[in-house]
Amino acid sequence: MNGPCLITGAKGLLGSEFATAVRDRPVHAMGKDALDVTDKEAIWRTFESVQPRIVFHTAAYTQVDAAESHRDNAHRLNAESVKHLAGACREYNAKLVHFSTDQVFDGKKPVPYVETDTPSPSNYYAQTKLESEAYALELPDALVLRVQWLYGAARPRFTHLGKKTSFTAICDQIGAPTWSRDVVRLAFQLVERNKHGLFHLSYDDHASWLEVFQYVKDLKGYSVNLQSVSTQELRLPAGRPLNAVLSNLKLKESLGLTTVGSWKTSLREFLTGLP
Ligand SMILES: NC(=O)c1ccc[n+]([C@@H]2O[C@H](COP(=O)([O-])OP(=O)(O)OC[C@H]3O[C@@H](n4cnc5c(N)ncnc54)[C@H](OP(=O)(O)O)[C@@H]3O)[C@@H](O)[C@H]2O)c1
Repeated sequence: MNGPCLITGAKGLLGSEFATAVRDRPVHAMGKDALDVTDKEAIWRTFESVQPRIVFHTAAYTQVDAAESHRDNAHRLNAESVKHLAGACREYNAKLVHFSTDQVFDGKKPVPYVETDTPSPSNYYAQTKLESEAYALELPDALVLRVQWLYGAARPRFTHLGKKTSFTAICDQIGAPTWSRDVVRLAFQLVERNKHGLFHLSYDDHASWLEVFQYVKDLKGYSVNLQSVSTQELRLPAGRPLNAVLSNLKLKESLGLTTVGSWKTSLREFLTGLP
């Protein structure tokens, strides 16, 4: 699939990763200043001038707790933007690659979630993302990729740990920290193989946030004192799934992979530069 690529939210964590990774075609990496995805007219003007063949839509309202009290903004940015983009993709024959979240599940299932599980959003942010999935999936060749706990060059997430004497980490949310570079790599593989539909992008293993921070502490030799806190104790405005483990079975089968790897391997490479 040749032709120009459009990236929305290109200054964000995932958008900036795509912006540096796409090399095989003309790239239009647009931050909010260049393309406001809540502006339907602006989307259509952009499609007319860029004529994209593929769109990586990474712009989103990602402040999960703030979304509870800023519902209109979250809905406009997360759900309505995808409706506009899907309409433009249909008209201009562009493939839409859209991103969603593990939080579309309530986390009560005792085993990993598969793509066919019925969602039950944990919070309002996830409700808007679930709505967005439906808009994207109206396009027969769209890809919707559910991801979780992203980190990357634009949001290191873990490096502050070395400067702290004490740090409190959540002990009862289970998932996996996911390197944005891995998301980009897997998304490219799905696109190259003309895949479409809903996929969970995840590693083969999982852990609690506390275990993840313990791993970082041991790896880097930090002296920080890690304290454990439960999700309930934190009293956050938005709910979070406790079991947020996403099965990668469909992903592996679709790409002919026996493994996607371990979150530990990716995090170690991100933090140390060593594979
Ligand atoms: N990060 C995670 O852990 C995580 C987990 C699950 C799913 N996801 C999903 O993955 C995707 C990428 O997330 P991310 O972490 O890369 O998000 P991010 O770093 O917050 O980036 C989102 C970008 O969208 C931009 N934006 C805000 N309003 C916009 C508008 N009206 N028009 C165009 N751009 C706008 C933001 O700009 P400003 O910062 O200037 O407002 C920001 O650069 C999203 O769909 C998100 O829901 C993320």
